[in-house]
Amino acid sequence: MKQHTSESLRELYLNFFKDRGHKVIPSASLIPENDPTVLFTTAGMHPLVPYLLGEKHPAGTRLTDVQKCVRTGDIDDVGDAGHCTFFEMLGNWSLGDYFKEEMIPWSYEFLTNDAYLGIPSDKIAVTVFEGDDTLPCDNEAAQLWEKAGIKKENIYFMSRENNWWGPAGLTGPCGTDTEMFIIRKEKCSPTCNPDCKCGAFLEIWNDVFMRFNKTAEGTFEELSQKNVDTGMGLERALCVLNGKASVYETDLFENAIKAISALTGKAYDENEETMRAFRVILDHTRTATFMIGDEKGITPSNTDQGYILRRIIRRAVRYGRKIDLPEGSLAKIAETYVEKYKNVYPELEINKNKISEELTKEEAKFNKTLQQGLKEFEKCINGLERKNAFMSQKDPAYVPEKVIGGKQAFHLYDTYGFPVEITDEMAKERGYGVDMAGYKAAFEEHQSKSKAGSEQKFACGLADNKEATTKLHTATHLLHAALKKVLSPDVNQKGSNITEERLRFDFNYPQPMTAEQIKAVEDMVNEVIKQNLPVVMKEVSLEEAKAEGFTGLFESKYGERVKTYTIGDFSKEICGGPHAESTGVLGEFKIQKEQSCASGVRRIKAVLK
Ligand code: ALA
Repeated sequence: MKQHTSESLRELYLNFFKDRGHKVIPSASLIPENDPTVLFTTAGMHPLVPYLLGEKHPAGTRLTDVQKCVRTGDIDDVGDAGHCTFFEMLGNWSLGDYFKEEMIPWSYEFLTNDAYLGIPSDKIAVTVFEGDDTLPCDNEAAQLWEKAGIKKENIYFMSRENNWWGPAGLTGPCGTDTEMFIIRKEKCSPTCNPDCKCGAFLEIWNDVFMRFNKTAEGTFEELSQKNVDTGMGLERALCVLNGKASVYETDLFENAIKAISALTGKAYDENEETMRAFRVILDHTRTATFMIGDEKGITPSNTDQGYILRRIIRRAVRYGRKIDLPEGSLAKIAETYVEKYKNVYPELEINKNKISEELTKEEAKFNKTLQQGLKEFEKCINGLERKNAFMSQKDPAYVPEKVIGGKQAFHLYDTYGFPVEITDEMAKERGYGVDMAGYKAAFEEHQSKSKAGSEQKFACGLADNKEATTKLHTATHLLHAALKKVLSPDVNQKGSNITEERLRFDFNYPQPMTAEQIKAVEDMVNEVIKQNLPVVMKEVSLEEAKAEGFTGLFESKYGERVKTYTIGDFSKEICGGPHAESTGVLGEFKIQKEQSCASGVRRIKAVLK
């Protein structure tokens, strides 16, 4: 088979579909716009959800792209040959245009024709949906494959578990699919099939025939149009096509591996443990690079995407210790990724300094407490071991306690910055577990004590609608907008709480505000108050609100109507209200305090005089 590089494979794929009437569209952000049910874009189709549901796409009905994706569900498996938290997906879409009759022959042509992947036809196996109580067997797909040239014995009929895809989040478009595999070696037994983990079959591509929409109630509605959604994971395809043992041996990681070797003096394949550490660092640093460098920019924090970013950076640091990776290395490894990817993802080059700064900062922050935290962790384990030894001596029937308490895990998080998942992983390495429910309880108790409960994260935080609180609520919108303008458009609300006396507003920002910035925000808010702008409420659909650039939490369901509040062209937010009728009634806005609230989150207390 022909050898491919990441660059040549992307180009080959996109050109193939361009030649067949597809428009090449750019990768969307890693933060999904159209799916409030998940934190990250998890598939190529994810940004296209509204169009798969029937909205018109400006580029037409045939699209192709390479989409950056993040899936962190299997983060603990990263380190083996196949798992990555970041990957690129090559894909093409028919938005109510072509269907199986075109897609299957195209898939066959791309896989087998020498001008493209050139895989011998008898080395390809496919799976198709076998049918169940609700949907018939996809004989049509099977016949199309056979007609194209796939041997009958290489066509496998399989259940919904294998041949149903989606939705990407909790709701959205989905349907039956047909998956394509390269046959690597002899089957391990007569019943061996593409679902078998023996390594005989390696998946390379998936064509989904999307005819359904999964609703929030869990039912499946037939879509008004028949779509095709396909996905070929770039890393995996490169690995399979080039006959590599793991995705980390593809050209995507070549320079990063060299960098780690230079920094540690160790070889990637020195031994199993070293290789695992290399892979975790390679994967996590790449994911962090793409998250921080994303057009919507993620920074480490204690909530949502920021928490996942923090977790993967800290996990990389922990694995770094195993191979003596010096502090400050992540930024250097990230540089190799920026170089490798910048032509495809120019945002990485644009945000190059930010990537380096955030990685360095987070690494230093964790390193400060890491040593102490590890000692504390050892104390937990030693304490349990001593207790177990003592009790076992007294009572031979005693069952040793193998679980680190929730309070202790929370202490490790709160004081030493150990994300609980890292504590859990370290515990597992020692044959222990963590009381996760206890951890959650300790976390929540702390949250309610500090009244920064995550449940308040996005709520407007309005306890009642007395006149004073209503005014403060409008002032909160003005403050939010002013912070975005003075500090950065990336600033977002992380929490809000209003009493009759004051407003409190939490937002992501990495450092204390300067006196000048505080003054500039106050002046800006007071200027808008002086202008006496009307506060206009309009009820629209969530999609319209998004399209018109309203900020807010897009956690409502599709089609749901939301209230939007507009204050001149200064502030546009989705919010439940209520608000003052115009800004003139607010009085004078004054910031009383600006302080840290959590890592990467600032808190402002302000009043109206
Ligand atoms: N959306 C399909 C997948 O991710 C193509 O496999």
